[in-house]
Amino acid sequence: MNILILGSGGREHALAWAALQNPKCDKLIVAPGNAGIAMIAECARLDINDGGAVAEFAGDNAIDLVIIGPEAPLAAGVADRLRDAGLLVFGPSAAAARLEASKSFTKEICDACNAPTAAYGHFTDADAAKDHVRTQGAPIVIKADGLAAGKGVIIAETVPEAEAAIDDMFGGAFGGAGAEVVIEEFMTGEEASFFVLCDGTDALPIGTAQDHKRVGAGDTGPNTGGMGAYSPAPVLTDALAEQAMAEIVRPTIAEMARRGTPYQGVLYVGLMISDHGPRLVEYNARFGDPECQVLMMRLGAQALDLIHACAEQRLGEMQVNWADDHAMTVVMAARGYPGDYAKGDVINGLTTLPEDSFTMMFHAGTAQSEGRILAAGGRVLNATARGATLQEARDRAYALLDQVNWPGGFCRDDIGWRAL
Ligand code: AMP
Ligand code: GLY
Repeated sequence: MNILILGSGGREHALAWAALQNPKCDKLIVAPGNAGIAMIAECARLDINDGGAVAEFAGDNAIDLVIIGPEAPLAAGVADRLRDAGLLVFGPSAAAARLEASKSFTKEICDACNAPTAAYGHFTDADAAKDHVRTQGAPIVIKADGLAAGKGVIIAETVPEAEAAIDDMFGGAFGGAGAEVVIEEFMTGEEASFFVLCDGTDALPIGTAQDHKRVGAGDTGPNTGGMGAYSPAPVLTDALAEQAMAEIVRPTIAEMARRGTPYQGVLYVGLMISDHGPRLVEYNARFGDPECQVLMMRLGAQALDLIHACAEQRLGEMQVNWADDHAMTVVMAARGYPGDYAKGDVINGLTTLPEDSFTMMFHAGTAQSEGRILAAGGRVLNATARGATLQEARDRAYALLDQVNWPGGFCRDDIGWRAL
């Protein structure tokens, strides 16, 4: 099978690494990729948000399966364009990806299928939104409706803070994403991410994970794309996962199919777990980054069989073979992230790292220049390891990071603290 993966982060490096473990993978191209991906696969320059260009590239390279990593091409309809061209695709249509691209759409679906989630209001003007906030009181959650690169959510501790957030959003702080605003009840509990493959009809859970969104130790400081993750998430017990499937995921899939926009791809189910059981925080239409890295570390070669079956709509015949293991990934980021940071630092020590089915340094934002590896993004490296226990996985991941020589980088030293 010839495979094309779209994307350039640690998530796509992990997907590529898992695909290559599988003997069914004959040829692998990643577009655009990064310096780490280039060590294991062919990288191609391609505008991955241009469905026509991707379809033409796939045709020219006899690609049998396209795996779409990030949300932007999904929201841009790249999966639709590829399916129209007769290609096999892993990733939802633009209509189905609205579960990530529009928060008010997700709320509408939850209403229609009775899925437990935070109570909400949906507003297109600031005065009505502020009235709602004054009636509800704080804390309260203000969200830009559209895609805002993970930054469009403000948890307001006070009413004036909420009013300021509303003004910011309608004032264009998040561009078009903030033209509509969703205001939600503040939910308490412990967050966990649940990953479910969906082929339009069947749904197959492929793992749980916990991310660390704040930049600083002890979950302090500003939000990031994620500073580390581990899998499984102990808070999401088998019973709670089954409850989330029964009350949230399967009703959503059925509602999407009923509307003529079946969901095909991985559904990232962000949950809040409290004494009342699981409630939906958000959906994403793709794997989490860095959650994907720990899932791929645990699934290995079978990840490709599962993704392939999902694309071919035969998930019903698949099952996941779980090892009783744990995985952790620790993100190394450029100093200053998620604010301003420098690019172009040389990173040493990366080419001599031990890499096997227990430890792998996935690259997120790296580039190659004259035989050297440079930092080229905010989140740069993902030290990822697997072990019989979470502690063992943790020790291996941090030991891997110790071998990297990059004074301009930093990581959180407490990834996994909740579970350890
Ligand atoms: P989202 O982009 O919707 O995932 O929101 C980002 C983060 O904000 C989530 O991971 C939660 O930590 C937090 N969050 C979002 N909505 C709520 C809510 N209704 N109650 C409490 N926390 C929330
Ligand atoms: N790590 C969070 C996300 O991928 O949305």
